[in-house]
Amino acid sequence: MTEILKADPDSIARAASLLLEGKLVAFGTETVYGLGALATSNAAVAHIFAAKNRPRFNPLISHFASAKAAFDHVEANELASRLAEAFWPGPLTMILPRKSGSTICDLATAGLPTIAVRVPRGKTALALLQAVGQPVAAPSANPSGRVSPSDAFHVLRNMHGRIDAILDSGPCSVGLESTVIDLSREVPFLLRPGGITLEKLEAICGTIRNPDDYATKLPSSPGMLASHYAPGLPVRLSAESVDEHEALLAFGPTLPGAGLVYNLSERGDLEEAASRLFAGLRFLDGEGQRRGLKTIAAMAVPRQGLGLAIMDRLRRAASPRPMAGGDDDDLESMIG
Ligand code: TXA
Ligand code: MG
Repeated sequence: MTEILKADPDSIARAASLLLEGKLVAFGTETVYGLGALATSNAAVAHIFAAKNRPRFNPLISHFASAKAAFDHVEANELASRLAEAFWPGPLTMILPRKSGSTICDLATAGLPTIAVRVPRGKTALALLQAVGQPVAAPSANPSGRVSPSDAFHVLRNMHGRIDAILDSGPCSVGLESTVIDLSREVPFLLRPGGITLEKLEAICGTIRNPDDYATKLPSSPGMLASHYAPGLPVRLSAESVDEHEALLAFGPTLPGAGLVYNLSERGDLEEAASRLFAGLRFLDGEGQRRGLKTIAAMAVPRQGLGLAIMDRLRRAASPRPMAGGDDDDLESMIG
């Protein structure tokens, strides 16, 4: 059942309490409707990927009620402060290095050392974020591969029954996703054109590199979108047996003989597995190296639903190499 909440103070309070319980709530921003979940909870963020049917764990934008709240989680440099001053609340997302004390979960950042932060415009969105008092992760509220929704009706048509509630604040004023700028590198990079134009940004930043430079000219630089967390230990996929020199990333009934085991989900639940994936890789990598193990052996998961995203992520971990980043949805919004 999806609760349909017309934006007013009571329904905003209701939506906030659902989010705090780990539920999924779609809400309107000035750009597009976001599919929100508590950004500090792997389990809550796993619901997003399940509901969107995303084949990959793309990093998500964390939304805040103020720049001050956002900058509690990231290392904001001087440029970030100026951009926040000029464009927040508004359709600008900044990628910045994660602060070590940040409570934003691995699944929201796809294990990256950076976090995408944004303070949206719009009374309802800001009131909701204020009421939650925690970062809210939200990709556009469309199933993967579909166009981003710019009013509540679009969300309902595709997501009804798959999410807990929708907070209807009417049509979005911008109707196009936020501009994403990466400030975690020596020079600012435009990752996605959007609601704030390049000209406006350049008036404050000076020259901004464009996505083509980003994808083709600097593929091996650290901190890139594509350089998702890759463990130090080599990863062996679809393990059907395991030995004492290996750490085992298990799914369902475990295999005997491993030197160390982390079970993604003993009961074989893909959503639980997704919520534990990054923590599991990190644990087996750290503890495995400490114990002198040689490999992480990963059992196969079913290639359906979130299993596709889990296997995609494991394949990347098994063959770490820079890959052109981006969001399947972004392709869609550029062509459609
Ligand atoms: O307007 C918007 O930005 C909407 C509303 C709901 O806020 N959200 C949105 O989210 O469009 P999504 O998930 O569809 O797109 C987020 C983009 C993706 O291209 C993702 O790869 C990028 O931001 N992104 C997120 N975190 C990142 C990070 N740490 N480094 C690089 N790119 C990141
Ligand atoms: Mg999107």
